[in-house]
Amino acid sequence: MSTQQRTVEQVSTAHRQREGAGFIVRRPFPTRGIAQADPFLMLDEMGPITYAPGQAVGAPDHPHRGFETVSYILAGEVEHEDSAGHRGALGPGDVQWMTAGRGVVHSEMPSKRMRAEGGTVHGFQLWVNLPARDKMMAPRYQEIPAARIPTATSADGRATVRVVAGEALGVSAAIETRTPIAYHHWTLAPGASVDVALPDAMRAYVYVFRGSATVGDGARSLRDGQLAVMAGHGAVRLAVPSDAREGAELLLLAGVALNEPVAWHGPFVMNTQAEIEEAIRDYQRGRLGAIRR
Ligand code: CO
Repeated sequence: MSTQQRTVEQVSTAHRQREGAGFIVRRPFPTRGIAQADPFLMLDEMGPITYAPGQAVGAPDHPHRGFETVSYILAGEVEHEDSAGHRGALGPGDVQWMTAGRGVVHSEMPSKRMRAEGGTVHGFQLWVNLPARDKMMAPRYQEIPAARIPTATSADGRATVRVVAGEALGVSAAIETRTPIAYHHWTLAPGASVDVALPDAMRAYVYVFRGSATVGDGARSLRDGQLAVMAGHGAVRLAVPSDAREGAELLLLAGVALNEPVAWHGPFVMNTQAEIEEAIRDYQRGRLGAIRR
């Protein structure tokens, strides 16, 4: 059997960046060398970090317009609330897919309990760009508890996937996306090898966040904290050599490039500078709302 395989076009190493009220993230893109990963704008890995009592910090009230923020929690508890009256908590394995559309003001904070008692935080926030036609849509939330994220395991038991968006190993995600997106969390044991089929129209990116994995045709090695931009069509091969001392965990992200102009100013991502100025004005005049407490 021969499957067409994608190859690694570029590898970048995540840099560390201070965000929100002062937490450190690893950011594989945007970074020098990878300005954008159309249709994705940014990927941040928060932690893993263990906070002492009273030390945990988050991102207090801030606006977004023109794109989606996707929070995926691996450890810890995040409380969120927003100007549309949504309020909730995310725990390990939970996903919040927030379509900011024409705008929200929200806060994303470690839970009260974590702020008081400390604890370990680990998770991801991905920014997904919206096509021009959806940038001013009404905001919407999809909150998917861990139990509703489909999982699947390869026939040999060495590869497991949690399907946040798209499909893998015959299971399909519960999340709806505005454009075709795949968001997979793969856990690979030594000796694992899977060929992940993707539509040719999707661009694919692989970010390793534990151990080392080999990726694509030619088995390029990626270590913890590295992102590969894939080129070509067909499947993405993800593997860990059978003599490796430990397995690996990674995110596979894929989507159809929007190929539209990007005007990006902090928490606003539009198509033109005039739309950015409008977003700033609307925010300053309170048109994105405020969180009622
Ligand atoms: Co936010």
